[in-house]
Amino acid sequence: MSYYKIPSLEQYFKHYKKSVREPRKFWDKIAFENFSWYQKWDKVFDFDIEEAKFKWFVNAKVNITKNCIDRHLSKRGEKTAIIFEPNDPSEEALHITYNELYVRVAKMANVLQEQGVKKGDRVCIYLPMIPELSIAVLACARIGAIHSVVFAGFSSSALASRINDSDCKMVITSDGGFRGNKVINLKEIVDEALLNCSCVEKVLVVKRTNDSINMNEERDIFLQPLLDNALNSHIAEIMDAEDPLFILYTSGSTGKPKGMVHTIAGYMVYTAYTFKNVFNYEENDVYWCTADIGWITGHSYILYGPLLNGATTVMFEGIPSYPDFSRFWQVIEKHKVNQFYTAPTAIRALAKEKLDFVQKYQLNSLKVIGSVGEPINEEAWHWYNDHVGGKRCPIVDTWWQTETGGIMISPIPFITPTKPTYASLPLPGIQPVLMDELRNEIEGNQKTGSLCIKFPWPSMARTIWGDHQRYKETYFTAFPGKYFTGDGALRDEVGYYRITGRVDDVVIVSGHNLGTAPIEDAINEHPAVAESAIVGFPHEIKGNALYGYVILKEHGISRDKDNLTKEINQMISDQIGPIAKLDKIQFVEGLPKTRSGKIMRRILRKIAEGDINNFGDISTLLNPEIVEEIKNGKL
Ligand code: WT7
Repeated sequence: MSYYKIPSLEQYFKHYKKSVREPRKFWDKIAFENFSWYQKWDKVFDFDIEEAKFKWFVNAKVNITKNCIDRHLSKRGEKTAIIFEPNDPSEEALHITYNELYVRVAKMANVLQEQGVKKGDRVCIYLPMIPELSIAVLACARIGAIHSVVFAGFSSSALASRINDSDCKMVITSDGGFRGNKVINLKEIVDEALLNCSCVEKVLVVKRTNDSINMNEERDIFLQPLLDNALNSHIAEIMDAEDPLFILYTSGSTGKPKGMVHTIAGYMVYTAYTFKNVFNYEENDVYWCTADIGWITGHSYILYGPLLNGATTVMFEGIPSYPDFSRFWQVIEKHKVNQFYTAPTAIRALAKEKLDFVQKYQLNSLKVIGSVGEPINEEAWHWYNDHVGGKRCPIVDTWWQTETGGIMISPIPFITPTKPTYASLPLPGIQPVLMDELRNEIEGNQKTGSLCIKFPWPSMARTIWGDHQRYKETYFTAFPGKYFTGDGALRDEVGYYRITGRVDDVVIVSGHNLGTAPIEDAINEHPAVAESAIVGFPHEIKGNALYGYVILKEHGISRDKDNLTKEINQMISDQIGPIAKLDKIQFVEGLPKTRSGKIMRRILRKIAEGDINNFGDISTLLNPEIVEEIKNGKL
């Protein structure tokens, strides 16, 4: 009996039980039967929970790209691995077969090595959604370099801090990128970032827009001529199961972004297994995830998960609204997409437009449609179900995180009955628990609590780059012995989970995870600003938007507020990126603070939401009168 594919609801419960009672046997079998290894493990896992140290497939030797590419060549060499769909629909799509992918990755791997990149070195990849991005990622993995992909919408200072934090030796970028009708000058952003990064020795530059750019002779090299001269085969590096595969930054509720470190074997086994089951991928299906590879969704479910299964995966350069709001539906029809995976924000934005946009395309190739990144509200769920899935495609509402590496809670299509707004049941190997404020596990159903995971799973992030202490404190101290997700959840009468949202100071805006602290830091640098506090509030399209309360310094009080608002948003945009801009700014005289000086964000959230009648207990406030003032000044 194989555990790789869950065939029925009954078997789901059997596999689940097995994974809880005998996790070693369960994962041993999946890992052994479905991947190629240079050397098998001594132990399936080894944990030191106290120290938050976790190892999977201990001492095994592997290369993930052998599993993503080489082992498919004999059977699937001529099968399309990646379909590249450009931003401009009149530009032709590109079909890259597994054979071609092998050659392109081999050449890139050879180039990286010739340019001095070695096993263990960090390479920052700052590219738009073009094939070279996938190829660069895989080439790093092939030579054992650790990739750190930075989403190409991040600003130069966000890029610089990520490059410095992980001490990257190389940056791979492009002259620019196309997004809708905009052209983004990526190279300029890199040049600016590198003024503050002494660790970077070389910059490889892909030509995409062909705009003229500055090239620093000692540092910058165009990639194509190097590729043209590179050998078209490459012997993959033999890697340890627990060698880092990549670093990916995610916001924390405080402090700088956390460089989450994922290691090779556990990530490989879990992303492949979850891809197969959550999307019910069958040979010859065409799968499309609309995320950007700059986020974990793209790492796990545009690249690694699909390629590990020998799938055909679509990589889309554009945006849902260009040239018009039918772009997604047009691409589905064009490539006869069978599995489609997107974010609630996109669904809400498209649902607002005329139905004609979606109705004029044939979507009958679709079998499974997915949602990720934030809670999907009932209305969006039904619109997606009715108009995209044609009421025949199960919606997989997948809950997971950058830190979890792969999908944790999700329906299995055609097996788990779906329920709107519920991510439903944990996948085998995942043991969610709800915790109360006294750190006790909440038994029974129809309960809400803080969502924790009580047993390690293969693709969990192993550490925060350079700061294991912070990893331990962030994830394993709030509820000792358990992984704390930062989310709250509800468990219904049958044990289905519904994720209710963050319980910490992270706000999910359009599916992007934003810590409020770094945004406050950016605002506070404005010379007229004394202090600020950011909270999230519900937004029709974005799920949440940001609301800023800003206290001005004496000399700022007389300034024009519209201009100040613009300047503040510009600063945020420069320091973090346009996605972190505030929807509303309210200038206030003070902020509600507890006696220990902590801002009582609960109250600010209520005011931002417009729920201004019941603030609960405000007796511990140092300045209760400010609440009334802020309330009266609300926009
Ligand atoms: C946070 C993680 C992992 C994919 C992209 C986001 C929220 C994610 C769901 C869902 C409700 C969700 C959570 C989580 N989230 N998926 N299906 N339903 N909330 O990764 O940037 O690390 O953000 O996204 O709040 O903690 P991320």
